[in-house]
Amino acid sequence: MNIEQEAIKTKIGKGLFDVIVCSHKQIRGQFFRLGLEFTGAGAKAFSQVRPGQFAQLDLSKAALPPAEKIPQDLCDAAGRKILLRRPFSFCDVTASGDKTVVEILYSVVGPATLRMSTLTNGNSVSVIGPLGNGFSTFSDKKTALLIVGGMGAGPLIHLAKILTADCPTTEVVAFAGAKTKNELPFEKPLDKLAQGIGFSLAEFASYGVQSFMATDDGSAGFAGPVTECFSDWLKRSELASRDTIIYACGPEAMLAKVAEIARDRKIDCQVSMERMMACGIGLCQSCPVECKMNGSNETIYKLCCKDGPVFDSKQVVFSS
Ligand SMILES: Cc1cc2nc3c(=O)[nH]c(=O)nc-3n(C[C@H](O)[C@H](O)[C@H](O)COP(=O)(O)OP(=O)(O)OC[C@H]3O[C@@H](n4cnc5c(N)ncnc54)[C@H](O)[C@@H]3O)c2cc1C
Ligand code: FES
Repeated sequence: MNIEQEAIKTKIGKGLFDVIVCSHKQIRGQFFRLGLEFTGAGAKAFSQVRPGQFAQLDLSKAALPPAEKIPQDLCDAAGRKILLRRPFSFCDVTASGDKTVVEILYSVVGPATLRMSTLTNGNSVSVIGPLGNGFSTFSDKKTALLIVGGMGAGPLIHLAKILTADCPTTEVVAFAGAKTKNELPFEKPLDKLAQGIGFSLAEFASYGVQSFMATDDGSAGFAGPVTECFSDWLKRSELASRDTIIYACGPEAMLAKVAEIARDRKIDCQVSMERMMACGIGLCQSCPVECKMNGSNETIYKLCCKDGPVFDSKQVVFSS
């Protein structure tokens, strides 16, 4: 047993599993959706994954795409060796019988995700997980507001599914933003009629969840940051703060703004933080998140991989 396996078995109680690629689709541009099938102990471990939890994937053995298919801006990065596993959360988890299928919505941004894009059905991938804490849900909240920035979409699509199944009396509304229309990691937006009644994105509409789009350049939906779209909507709504909860996943500057809105409106808010991760299991200390100590100005460093990635927004000292 190597150090990695030892650490997982003795300290973490998580699993190291070989899984099989069971679906892979390029949804648009650089965005892909990858399905991984677990059997045996892995199927059990991953059947209860909470939205926001993640896994570390070893993508070092996957092939690079042919040179002509590598985007110009990634040509230099493509040749880099993949020494570390990469963290990914899930946009869907389906357990049936003795199998669990997890789906990852991802964007090709560097050497590991370039290799990930060449995986085909039947390929095997080594996965460590499930890791991290995930979002907490509360059935007594009347409204849950999901704020998505770019690639933060995956865990919040998964959360929309879990909330509508487990908290049927909670109304869920999603707000998704990116710099431009092409950077929204969704399939085609719904038609104008559906958008007119507040259903912009099929991924949320499939759970009966309303959704609004925002783009910084105005190429789709609201013209401006998603936080402005959300804040305008919140001002028009008559929600009672104590009955409402906000969940957010996206770039740190967006999370900081969402946390500020939540603080001003006294609404509970959970944010999913991102850090570069080496081990993913709390051993290497490479993923610190500065957090306030309860009731004091002192701060401590928590680990994104082990204490997070989801934090109460009131705790976090945002860097941007
Ligand atoms: C908990 C967690 C969940 C994630 N879930 C998803 C997901 O569902 N879908 C998805 O597409 N991506 C997700 N990511 C990000 C994903 O891990 C990175 O995009 C991936 O590691 C990129 O690997 P690469 O070798 O292709 O590119 P790299 O060359 O490693 O990275 C490309 C660029 O992205 C930046 N970057 C890479 N990882 C991070 C990070 N963790 N935080 C901030 N900047 C980073 C690098 O600095 C670099 O500029 C998640 C990250 C974390 C921490
Ligand atoms: S990634 Fe190693 S401690 Fe978090």
